[in-house]
Amino acid sequence: MRVTKTFLWVFSSIVFASAAVAEDAGYAICVSCHNPDGSGNVALNAPAIAGQEAWYMETQIKNFKSGARGVHEADIYGQQMRAMSLMLADDDAVASVSAYVSSMERKKIENTIEGNADAGKALFAVCGGCHGPDAKGLKMMNSPDLTAQQDWYLVRQLQNFRTGVRGTDPSDMFGQQMRPMAMMLADDQAVKDVVAYINTLH
Ligand code: HEC
Ligand code: HEC
Repeated sequence: MRVTKTFLWVFSSIVFASAAVAEDAGYAICVSCHNPDGSGNVALNAPAIAGQEAWYMETQIKNFKSGARGVHEADIYGQQMRAMSLMLADDDAVASVSAYVSSMERKKIENTIEGNADAGKALFAVCGGCHGPDAKGLKMMNSPDLTAQQDWYLVRQLQNFRTGVRGTDPSDMFGQQMRPMAMMLADDQAVKDVVAYINTLH
């Protein structure tokens, strides 16, 4: 009896321990663009997602599925991602793939944007109110970790918010909060500067 119990305990710990790190079946859909290790692929415009907060990933994937994100006619990359999100059957599949991606180890991110990080630091003062002074994100503000991503992706998203490609759908509550913040960045140079500063926080 005792032996059986011990065996069951060991057996179930192995099963549960491996379940925590086992590859999620849904991730098979993602590898071709986001890479097996979640490091992204700049040639395919797919950002790094490894180690991003699970709650934020879930919100974004659900936004893509519902069409709150990725339907604007100028949002070519969002449209590509939206088609993929529709392959995840339901909320459970979204939660499961998000938890898996979030558990992945972050890869070192290469900086590609040239900007004035000192000027960016001053601009970032307002951003820190929601994303945290270290840009690591604040769940209570629904604001994601910005240090998990490549600079070219941050620039693109800031431009998307500024031009209304993202954050204008009436059901996109959080995107609508972010949009006026991006619009406070006066021009392309300001966008590059603030991203150059975020690069110093990796
Ligand atoms: C065909 C290529 C492709 C596949 C396959 C794909 N994605 Fe994407 N994904 C993209 C692109 C391109 C973007 C960037 C969209 C943009 O620029 O707005 C993106 C963006 C995202 C984002 C938004 C990141 C953020 O910080 O807002 C998440 C989350 C994401 N993908 C998760 C996934 C998951 C999970 C899968 C698998 C179920 C998947 N993707 C499959 C191309 C793809
Ligand atoms: C009022 C709170 C608030 C402030 C201030 C704010 N943000 Fe955001 N930001 C958000 C929220 C909420 C989101 C998530 C939007 C969503 O869920 O689609 C976001 C999303 C983003 C994204 C998209 C990240 C991704 O993974 O796609 C970037 C980039 C970003 N913010 C940069 C900035 C910068 C730079 C500043 C300062 C100029 C700033 N934010 C100021 C609330 C804020």
